[in-house]
Amino acid sequence: MGFTEEIKRRRTFAIISHPDAGKTTLTEKLLLFGGAIHVAGAVKSNKIKKTATSDFMEIEKQRGISVATSVMGFEYDGYKVNILDTPGHQDFAEDTFRTLTAVDSVIIVVDAAKGVEAQTRKLMEVCRMRNTPVIVFINKMDRPSKDPFELLDEVEEELKIKVQPLSWPIGNGTEFKGVYNLFEKNLYLFDPGKQVLEEGVSIEDFNDPVLNSIIGDDSAESAREELELVQGVYPDFEMDPYREASVAPVFFGSALNNFGVRELLHCFLQIAPTPQPSKAEERMVDAGEEKFTGFVFKIHANMDPNHRNRLAFLKICSGKFQRNTNYLHVRNGKNMKFSSPTAFMADKKSIIDEAYPGDIVGIPDTGNFKIGDTVTQGEKLHYKGLPSFSPELFRYIENDDPMKSKQLAKGIDQLMDEGVAQLFVSQFNGRKVIGTVGALQFEVIQYRLLHEYGASCRYEPINLHKACWIRSEDEKELADFKKRKVQYMAKDKSGRDVFMADSAYMLQMAQSNFKNIEFHFTSEF
Ligand code: G4P
Repeated sequence: MGFTEEIKRRRTFAIISHPDAGKTTLTEKLLLFGGAIHVAGAVKSNKIKKTATSDFMEIEKQRGISVATSVMGFEYDGYKVNILDTPGHQDFAEDTFRTLTAVDSVIIVVDAAKGVEAQTRKLMEVCRMRNTPVIVFINKMDRPSKDPFELLDEVEEELKIKVQPLSWPIGNGTEFKGVYNLFEKNLYLFDPGKQVLEEGVSIEDFNDPVLNSIIGDDSAESAREELELVQGVYPDFEMDPYREASVAPVFFGSALNNFGVRELLHCFLQIAPTPQPSKAEERMVDAGEEKFTGFVFKIHANMDPNHRNRLAFLKICSGKFQRNTNYLHVRNGKNMKFSSPTAFMADKKSIIDEAYPGDIVGIPDTGNFKIGDTVTQGEKLHYKGLPSFSPELFRYIENDDPMKSKQLAKGIDQLMDEGVAQLFVSQFNGRKVIGTVGALQFEVIQYRLLHEYGASCRYEPINLHKACWIRSEDEKELADFKKRKVQYMAKDKSGRDVFMADSAYMLQMAQSNFKNIEFHFTSEF
């Protein structure tokens, strides 16, 4: 198969949802279709359950699981599908944001009874920022659900995107009869006990009396009314608005019952974008360009504490990636060869000789990579789109064992490269501040420093509201600001100036007193 065909057949996407909406179940059913797994239950959820906050073994176990399920590739009907998993726990939101930079589209799972929930709204903001096309799967129709029109309105309003139902549910809960697929014009009947996949009944015109004989007069009548309304309210599906991320196609189903999943997959494969151009600081890079380029969006530490090896996840943006070939690590200017890059097929890893745009390759790493690094065939490119966000929680980190200060420094350094949290060093007193999205990270860091680096640390409280990256064209005002706010100035890991505001009021005052200074809440602007 030629290079262009290889690119065209790739679909790289993430499934996102609020915890418990059914992301893991849907992923598993998609893998079953792809023949990547053969029994349900083979994919363990990588979500870190709320109860796990103080159960470190549980965290460790789940970290292990999340390596295995980080990327799941499979072949289906001539397509190469790459599903990128995202941690469900909101304390790991940054990890999810970064994973979203490596996908070309997204499937959002919404619980039909609960509607759009907080975490989904947040994740959708990231999709919107990046103009990522989304498809919505409304799950758990076998349970009593909200009215489908109400759900669509909610999605439209809460996720701020127009919707386009491509299937329509007939009833819900115990009265759930099936879905009418508006895309294929087929009726699929629901049978909760049945996991066997059947072809739908083709009904071109839903006024056909055959509908009555299949689902009964009452259901047929109300389905007709609703479908007429649907067709009146929502225009026919068009590819461009979906691809431009202004319209989200919507499917209804039940992942647990494997219902509506195949239709979702078939439609997804037809409409979802192929590997898209990637934005580097220097230029846009087309997936079809001959020369290899890629970037690291995730680093995972090895589970074995005796080997501090890590796995860097490299997203291929252009060209063909080949094993044992010299590539440039742009940040440190070194040429590197990768002798054992791995591909991820479902829950298995295997060494590969080549990979194509859209694919994710795992590179064993001993500390050369950090998140955001670009690798190329020689061109000095810097891929964009992996910003750090201002953390929500801050604590001083202190050495608790003076004999192990080197180990602690190294451990902190490597954990920050992995993107576990952010480090800020005060310009006033040199103290180190760790910033995180959720409280769980502090415990993970402490645990990992001890178990992987033999270093112990303790935290001390610090009262901070936000970290803002500052910049100004007005050098005099910037110097003045830094002098006046010296107690609140810190450097991030790349040596950039960060203003650590201790309250919203203080930040507001600073913004109004220093008009020529830009305050940014993400590190990339
Ligand atoms: P998540 O990854 O989004 O967090 O959700 P997950 O798939 O783990 O699903 C959360 C719960 O919802 C699971 O039940 C799962 O079985 C259930 N579920 C998923 N899809 C459907 C569906 O279509 N209908 C119904 N009725 N339930 C569904 P659990 O009891 O929390 O876990 P488990 O013990 O079944 O694994």
